[in-house]
Amino acid sequence: MYGVIFHFLRDYVIERHGGEATWKALLDAQGYKFKLYFPVQDYPDEEIIALVETASKALDTPIPVVLEDFGSYVGPQLLSFYHMYIKNKEMTTFDVIEAAGGSIHDVIHKHNPNRKPPRLSSIRESDDVLMVHYQSHRKLCPVVRGIIRGLGEKFNERFDINETQCMHDGADKCIMKVTRLDA
Ligand code: HEM
Repeated sequence: MYGVIFHFLRDYVIERHGGEATWKALLDAQGYKFKLYFPVQDYPDEEIIALVETASKALDTPIPVVLEDFGSYVGPQLLSFYHMYIKNKEMTTFDVIEAAGGSIHDVIHKHNPNRKPPRLSSIRESDDVLMVHYQSHRKLCPVVRGIIRGLGEKFNERFDINETQCMHDGADKCIMKVTRLDA
């Protein structure tokens, strides 16, 4: 996973879960006195999983809940960090999901031969309903839900998210019916 995600995890822990001391404690639990993550460098997925597992234990909160909350934090951050890929400044949450599936993840991984981007696609069933398909060996569907909610907060939109099938139940991909609710 790219260092940029670790970077956001650090910011997330510091902002929402007790500041630098909590982040230091998490690093300490992984055996690091100090660790810098460079945004475009690839780090082992196991490292971020271990950090999230430790955070979940420390917060006494299930891993999927931590992942979804992290997703809600990281969605708007990704949007600002990678603003150069956002052509249309009048975007809505559905537009960002479509752009992420269409080109954003691919462009980011273009120069990385070990690329393992998530596969994201979506079908607009109506103005207010988007079917989101997600496939990745990382099985991070709670992060997907969180990103959608976080983008919704940014764009002042609320969603009902109903996962109709999930990789954690043996499906080949996760499918979510995302319905925009009245603001
Ligand atoms: C501005 C829009 C977005 C940008 C710039 C962006 C960028 C990224 C980057 C840099 C990563 C790390 C990839 C890696 O380390 O290999 C990532 C991972 C991920 N992104 Fe996005 N993303 C965006 C939108 C979205 C949206 C809208 C969703 C879903 C609704 C999404 C779902 C995910 C998931 C689940 C991962 C974790 C990796 C995995 O599951 O394999 N992203 N994204």
